[in-house]
Amino acid sequence: MVNDVKAILENWSGDHALPGALYRDAEVYETEIRRIFLRSWLYVGHQSQIRERGDYFLFEIAGESVIVVRNAEGGINALLNVCRHRGSRICDQPAGRETRLVCPYHGWTYGLDGKLRGAGNMPEGFDRSGLGLRRLQTRVFMGLIFLNFADDPPAFEVIESDLAEPMRPYGLERARVAHRQNYPIRSNWKLALENYCECYHCAPAHPEYSVGHGRAVPPGQFASMLAAVMERAPEVGLTRHTLRRSWLASGEVGVDRGFDRYPLLRGHLTGSRDGKPLAPLLGSITGYDGGTTDLHLGPTTFGLAYCDHVVLYRFTPRTLRSTDCEITWLVNESAREGTDYDRSELTWLWDVTTIADKTIIERNQAGVDSRFYVPGPLSAMEDFTRRFLDWYVAIMRETWPSSPDRHGNEHGLPPHAALPQR
Ligand code: FES
Ligand SMILES: [Fe+2]
Repeated sequence: MVNDVKAILENWSGDHALPGALYRDAEVYETEIRRIFLRSWLYVGHQSQIRERGDYFLFEIAGESVIVVRNAEGGINALLNVCRHRGSRICDQPAGRETRLVCPYHGWTYGLDGKLRGAGNMPEGFDRSGLGLRRLQTRVFMGLIFLNFADDPPAFEVIESDLAEPMRPYGLERARVAHRQNYPIRSNWKLALENYCECYHCAPAHPEYSVGHGRAVPPGQFASMLAAVMERAPEVGLTRHTLRRSWLASGEVGVDRGFDRYPLLRGHLTGSRDGKPLAPLLGSITGYDGGTTDLHLGPTTFGLAYCDHVVLYRFTPRTLRSTDCEITWLVNESAREGTDYDRSELTWLWDVTTIADKTIIERNQAGVDSRFYVPGPLSAMEDFTRRFLDWYVAIMRETWPSSPDRHGNEHGLPPHAALPQR
């Protein structure tokens, strides 16, 4: 299989879908996890989910579990949910509040900083100092919490410096979570991402989205409308930025960032059933400019920033053939449910759209599982997906076959500056 995958990667044409083996092979999956996910900045949640000391939620990815907790100083820690005694999981509940973290197995007790505070019946002179929970690097940007499993992660600053200005008007550090929902997809993570990254399927699959969103038509058809949106943007407090630093254009694995505007159609002001506003305006935005914004925040988080709410899509592989698609709806923190917005109306569009996508993606997995599946050519409307595949194949060509000693470190990682630039 090692040589088959090597040949598949070398022979990939660059403008076709990927061969089926890349969605089915356990060693390929393990390589992806180590090379991409354990080195990337991963969006895990919004700071409003853990307001008080001891509030926590779990972030689960590829068999790993991380406790994201508000510490005693008001900061945020990300602690590996693995006890330093005999390795038990410590927290089971997806979210909660604790004053300390107590392992249910033998009672070892950790502080919110991860330090081991107590361990019963250990010998006299037992040294607790080196037995704290593994702490991952974290960053909070505009209220969004990111973490990285690597000891030497790529510089997060490129995300901050590129996105701070265009995202500032949305005031996401003063937003709160109105709703969060996971849509588990029975597919390899790449099929879920490929689907998110193209709108070739939108017209047939998403009538609710296509009626109001310019992404559903070929880009050439909305150029003049987009120019009008960009003209109006400063009048409502938005900027005229366009930023496309995704995939190979990101420069390094794990710091993808994008802020890309497109017009809404037929007088729609936001992503709602009838195009009318759903919630109070976000941040310092003063009106509607007739457009919306595609966000890209790290390799597997995307978003839609409307003037009155933001929808974040977080894709995380759980196993070779299962992927979580968690959606978070953010509104202005002053907005009150029932008075200022209706939760079912707020979530309607992306709920119905994601349910449709789940079906499409699972059907796609069933098809690529066929012994007779042959990858076909991509359309111009799948350009962003093609660039995702380009990036993915470049990483895998560089990494495969992965072995612990090939690059002289335990993760078998090549130096990451070597990827070709586009
Ligand atoms: S495994 Fe946690 S206390 Fe023993
Ligand atoms: Fe879709």
